Amino acid sequence: MYTNKNGIKIYDDPADFEGMRKAGKVAAECLDYITDYVQVGITTGELDDLCLKFMESKGAISACLGYHGYPKATCISINQVICHGIPDYERKLADGDILNIDVTAIVDGYYGDTSRMYFAGKPKIKGKRLCEVTYECMMRGIDVVKPGAHFGDIGAVIEEYAHKYGYSVVDMFCGHGLGKVFHDNPNVMHCGRKGTGPIMEEGMFFTIEPMINLGKKDGVILSNGWTAVTCDHAWSAQFEHSMGVTKDGVEVFTYSPKGLDKPPYK
Ligand code: MF3
Ligand code: CO
Ligand code: CO
Repeated sequence: MYTNKNGIKIYDDPADFEGMRKAGKVAAECLDYITDYVQVGITTGELDDLCLKFMESKGAISACLGYHGYPKATCISINQVICHGIPDYERKLADGDILNIDVTAIVDGYYGDTSRMYFAGKPKIKGKRLCEVTYECMMRGIDVVKPGAHFGDIGAVIEEYAHKYGYSVVDMFCGHGLGKVFHDNPNVMHCGRKGTGPIMEEGMFFTIEPMINLGKKDGVILSNGWTAVTCDHAWSAQFEHSMGVTKDGVEVFTYSPKGLDKPPYK
């Protein structure tokens, strides 16, 4: 592994790809595992406990627990919460809620970071459509990844697709390099212009994790110091995959082994 002239790590050992596959798989399996537990009436704290136990059963460590003082093993973000919702034992899921569960597993020192949207009970049409469009935004971003592409190309395709539906793209958080660290260069913006930003090279590892809002893009951090909610209280959705740039394209490390990449899951 070395750092290129733009300050981005290049993982040039095949063992690094192997390490990321393992970590990504545990994170994805955790999201698969939690799927059946996402039901009306369960608390986010209970879901978090289940995810932590699952990761530990696989010999993995939650990267979130204790990260800059973060108190839980996962982030669970409901409805108008953009990201970094802190699981608790008060908030029970209600019929029609949409929620993001974001897990990062550390396996043998490698970080696998992924999140999906889930529905509690029967989703309202507006929640369902927002999740569909957000998933498509992430996948369109992934589709542009290959050596020689610019990081700005990702944001450009995401923004174009989200705006077509009248949705907005959050710009206060971004995707990130990862690998043997959780958050690294580059910042992977979910808005931007084609042909701008650093150039992708084989061996770069990063996430794409667009947050898409039904209303305005702006958010505010709650007094817990973590949780971001939309200023206008309109709903927000997010999906996240971890990936690596290959010789001629991209390898996604966090696909669902069970094919549960996007809702509905049954
Ligand atoms: N998993 C989040 C991400 O996608 C980061 C969560 S950090 C935490 O980058 F401390 F809030 F858990
Ligand atoms: Co991430
Ligand atoms: Co994440």
